[in-house]
Amino acid sequence: MSPDLSVQLAPRNKRGLIPANPVMTASGTFGYGTEYSQVFDIQRLGAIVCKGTTLEPREGNPQPRLFETASGLLNSIGWQNIGVKALIKEKAPVWAGWRVPVIVNIAGDTVDDYARLAKELDGVDGISGIEVNISCPNVKVGGAAFGVNPDAAAGVTKAVRAATSLPVIVKLTPNTADIAGVASAVAQAGADAISLINTLKGTAIDINKRRPAIGDVICGLSGPAIKPVALAMVYEVADAVDVPVIGCGGITSAEDALEFIMAGASAVQIGSATFGNPRASLDVLEGIERFMEKEGISKLSEIIGAAR
Ligand SMILES: Cc1cc2nc3c(=O)[nH]c(=O)nc-3n(C[C@H](O)[C@H](O)[C@H](O)COP(=O)(O)O)c2cc1C
Repeated sequence: MSPDLSVQLAPRNKRGLIPANPVMTASGTFGYGTEYSQVFDIQRLGAIVCKGTTLEPREGNPQPRLFETASGLLNSIGWQNIGVKALIKEKAPVWAGWRVPVIVNIAGDTVDDYARLAKELDGVDGISGIEVNISCPNVKVGGAAFGVNPDAAAGVTKAVRAATSLPVIVKLTPNTADIAGVASAVAQAGADAISLINTLKGTAIDINKRRPAIGDVICGLSGPAIKPVALAMVYEVADAVDVPVIGCGGITSAEDALEFIMAGASAVQIGSATFGNPRASLDVLEGIERFMEKEGISKLSEIIGAAR
């Protein structure tokens, strides 16, 4: 019998969120999912998280916006997106025909922006959950400003919770001194699950031009370079909260994903790895399946937190 990889990511929510497996795509690295449907069977994934969505369309930050570093990637895309109205009109009807659940990542400048976005998305066919991005390092207002402080993070979570009955995942920033405190605060404020981490603050300098190598200077570092940091934070947060934790940061292989799962994550998100290998998320899923079969593990829940 093939192993059961399904996982309940919103046990406190009436609607629930039960992906068929724990492998999701990370926001901003998989477009709206449609872009990759020609590359592989995306319906096999556990869930797809779309690009950060704001109330109005946005163009994002100045160029250059990507820069490769040792085992990592700096990005300052910002919140380039089509806006929530176009998303509901053009993307959601496509998602409604999919087996794979789609989660919409939302971002705003004010608490009210987040609440309005959650309200607009509530009850829209094709949308299975909301991921609240309070963790983006490369925008001037909103974003990570809410994620560094437990009270501010709880305030956004409460407002979103009140505005929707959809499962709410809150995505945390590593750029805070107290990630466990922020995690506890958002769990208490009504988050159904917590995802982490978003990118670490970083930059690079072009020594010939004597200028920053990236348009927006302070931007976000992702990729294998951040994996040990992300793993430690997932381990810490899984201890601090009793809601499901979704691990993200530098995952490129099934072995990486299994480390996160054994550290306490119920699911994982694959981000930058997709840029090098568009099938990375599917490869991770197939590797997890092989590992479970080889080890005789019949249910994913047997290994969640196994290293604790
Ligand atoms: C180009 C790019 C765009 C991103 N855009 C978003 C976004 O819109 N919203 C969000 O919450 N995270 C965004 N992220 C962060 C990723 O979802 C993920 O948290 C981070 O990259 C760490 O995972 P990784 O090391 O596997 O890439 C973005 C990351 C990259 C590289």
